[in-house]
Amino acid sequence: MLLSGNALLVLLSLGQSAGVWCFARLLDDVEARSAFSVSRTTSMEGGPKMTVTFDTVYVNIGADFDPKTGVFHCRIPGAYYFSFTVGKFPHKDLSVMLMKNRNEVQAIVYEENAGEERKVQSQSVMLQLEFSDTVWLRLHGDPRYALYSNTGHYTTFNGYLIYPDTYDYQTHHHQPPPAYNSQQPQQDSVPLLQSNQATDDRSGSRGLLEERELQHREEEEEEEEEQEEEQEDDEDDQRSAFSVGRTQSIVGVDQVGLPQHQPVSFDTALVNIGADFNITEGVFSCRVPGVYYFSFNVGKLPQKTLSVKLMKNRLEVQAMIYDDSQGEKALQSQSLMLALKPGDTVWLYSHQRDGFGAYSNHAKYITFTGFLVYPDSPPTATTSQPPADKKP
Ligand SMILES: *[C@@H]1O[C@H](CO)[C@@H](O)[C@H](O)[C@H]1NC(C)=O
Repeated sequence: MLLSGNALLVLLSLGQSAGVWCFARLLDDVEARSAFSVSRTTSMEGGPKMTVTFDTVYVNIGADFDPKTGVFHCRIPGAYYFSFTVGKFPHKDLSVMLMKNRNEVQAIVYEENAGEERKVQSQSVMLQLEFSDTVWLRLHGDPRYALYSNTGHYTTFNGYLIYPDTYDYQTHHHQPPPAYNSQQPQQDSVPLLQSNQATDDRSGSRGLLEERELQHREEEEEEEEEQEEEQEDDEDDQRSAFSVGRTQSIVGVDQVGLPQHQPVSFDTALVNIGADFNITEGVFSCRVPGVYYFSFNVGKLPQKTLSVKLMKNRLEVQAMIYDDSQGEKALQSQSLMLALKPGDTVWLYSHQRDGFGAYSNHAKYITFTGFLVYPDSPPTATTSQPPADKKP
């Protein structure tokens, strides 16, 4: 009898991979959680230490946010929603940027107004993060800038995971599970050669018990693989999210012959899961029916009236931002949930007439985010269902 060391290794590795795989799936539901919500009870002036730190922690699931350093460390790769609100300090300007890693500006809160008033400004975007990416807030380093806060907590920062990246392999669905497990260190340590031998050895002489055991495991794996794939297919269809930025201002002009009611277009896609948002057109088209969350933030152009509306389909106004003060650059924010049917479109409209406009620059004052919160018909496949139910 030829029960080679190799066959044993194969058995061991198969057993291990199945075990790791099940474990990973169990953990998916519980461990794919990351959320933080923090606030700051003191003001801060622009200086060499530009990272905004926090002293009050409301939520820190996964402990991915370090309030002392003010840095969020991505542990679970995926798409995250971030929002922050900062107070303007009397007689100072306000400039706080949402940063990714060392130097990548994602969006800004800005108030150019050294007046004595206190007020808050807000911004929100979604970001696609890889493991170990960092996200933090940077206050402008010049002492001309400051942010205000006190025990009333003017300054807050939130982030949470919306879609974890468990879908990396969607382009190679029909490959065996090792691709799925590529992030498991245990898997990496199993040489590819052994996987090949598992099939080559199938007809070779081997103890009956081991043969059966191996077959059984293989069947189990195949079942799980099918189930996993069906589930993945369902879940792939159920994801939709976009977050886009515009780096240029919009200025309304009175001019005959210009197309009316043009959507605000964008030039930066931070997230576009499902590719449901066309950035050059500026239009989101609903593919998955359900309830969506939308938020948008727009800069005020000095001497122009700010009027930006969230539109559905042709000309159905859903919500708007408005500011006709004589104020300098500042931000306005709005958010809403909408129940959408397939083919519904959602877009932003900035009043196109002379005297209206919106401000932005490379730091992205103008952002627009939307994501599916609840699909209309949730997928029936759940991990608690026995595999038999999944058979045709
Ligand atoms: C976006 O819309 C424009 C104008 O309708 C179209 O030409 C373009 O192909 C679209 N882009 C994508 C990626 O669908």
